[in-house]
Amino acid sequence: MLQNLVMDNTQTKPWAGRFDQPTDAFVEAFTASVGFDQRLYAQDIQGSMAHARMLARQQVLSADECAAIVAGLERIQQQIERGDFVWSVPLEDVHMNIERALTQDIGEAGKRLHTGRSRNDQVATDIRLWLREEIDAIVAQLHQFQAALLTLAEREADTVMPGLTHLQVAQPVTFGHHMLAWHEMLVRDAARFVDCRRRVNIMPLGAAALAGTSYPIDREYTCALLGFEGIAENSLDAVSDRDFAIEFCAAAAILMMHLSRFSEELILWSSAQFDFIELADAFCTGSSIMPQKKNPDVPELVRGKSGRIFGHLMALLTLMKAQPLAYNKDNQEDKEPLFDTVDQVKASLKVYVDLIGALRCKPAKMREAARQGFATATDLADYLVGKGIAFRDAHEIVGKAVALGIKRGCDLAALSLAELQAFSPLIDEDVYAVLTLEGSLAARNHFGGTAPEQVRAAIERARARQETQV
Ligand code: ARG
Repeated sequence: MLQNLVMDNTQTKPWAGRFDQPTDAFVEAFTASVGFDQRLYAQDIQGSMAHARMLARQQVLSADECAAIVAGLERIQQQIERGDFVWSVPLEDVHMNIERALTQDIGEAGKRLHTGRSRNDQVATDIRLWLREEIDAIVAQLHQFQAALLTLAEREADTVMPGLTHLQVAQPVTFGHHMLAWHEMLVRDAARFVDCRRRVNIMPLGAAALAGTSYPIDREYTCALLGFEGIAENSLDAVSDRDFAIEFCAAAAILMMHLSRFSEELILWSSAQFDFIELADAFCTGSSIMPQKKNPDVPELVRGKSGRIFGHLMALLTLMKAQPLAYNKDNQEDKEPLFDTVDQVKASLKVYVDLIGALRCKPAKMREAARQGFATATDLADYLVGKGIAFRDAHEIVGKAVALGIKRGCDLAALSLAELQAFSPLIDEDVYAVLTLEGSLAARNHFGGTAPEQVRAAIERARARQETQV
């Protein structure tokens, strides 16, 4: 946002009373947060209106004063939203800017708004109101992302690809199954945000500077007006606690770690070496020098952004680690990391929902890759176990068969029956059914397994779960 910021030296500070000298000009800019916390204007106004209504109900303010405050705040909100509110740096932050504008607009009553509160409980309330909404938006985006993955998984429920461990071909899996693995990560991410929201949704207002207030406030009433789930129990904790922001950033860091892993796979899969998928042109960029290039910039950027989000988590932890109770100005540093975390997470989710929707698979290439690397070797071992051989012995026998395949440059299924029987006389014609990719997939037919039938059942369960989530 960062709009209409002025170094307006005609403003006297609301706290100027005990000072003899004006603030140093550089210090004024250095200590101000209005450049970034103006973003909280709507929540600041919402909190102020609730506070004024409560004060009027408790007869600390008159009904007329309250009405003037509420109407004035409404006008200020419109002015900000029109873009013609001038933010003053000497007035430090969003709170004092709005309060001063209110007083300039309605006079005396404006000066009474700050009765029984402090910027310390005010700012904590604003951030919680703001973050609560942002969490809802992020969870909604995660649900969209999950739905896009389920659609893709359903479309590719039978598509064979090589499953990897150590980035080496391990066993065949379906692309649908692979998408469901990503889906599960996002389910846990959404659950973490929902859980974190419960602790965000606690009201600090009423804690005032740190000790509470001598006015007969009614915190239950402001809590109900603001839709908080509970009231902070301890005033010292209320103004200083930023656990909720740290928790949010931790959930965001885990989510970004997941997105970074997806990104890595998309980047690998869209390379000429893998060639498993085609990312839509709309999500790629070219090179200014190499005409043939189509670069997976979007996944690369998301992978890159994860580092920045991990950094924000570390910043907030470090911000809080040595703070004595209660409020300290350090806390002003909570906003930029938090805001940026929200912005980057939302942007990354938005771009991924669309990118996943436009993703095209190359099943023939995936099948080809699954055929290489002896992906069905475990199936041959399991086949021998079925014939009565102990797994360890079967492992050894198949290892020798693989060695022959490597020497020949062919897959196990390309060895003749006589050749296979040289490793074990128990091997029969029926072994070839086991050595096919489809046979291998179909054999893993249990809850959580990669058999197409199981993938379809898992998609159904996931959809049912999603319906109960909202
Ligand atoms: N701008 C401040 C912040 O972001 C608001 C609270 C200021 N309180 C104070 N006692 N200086 O934390």
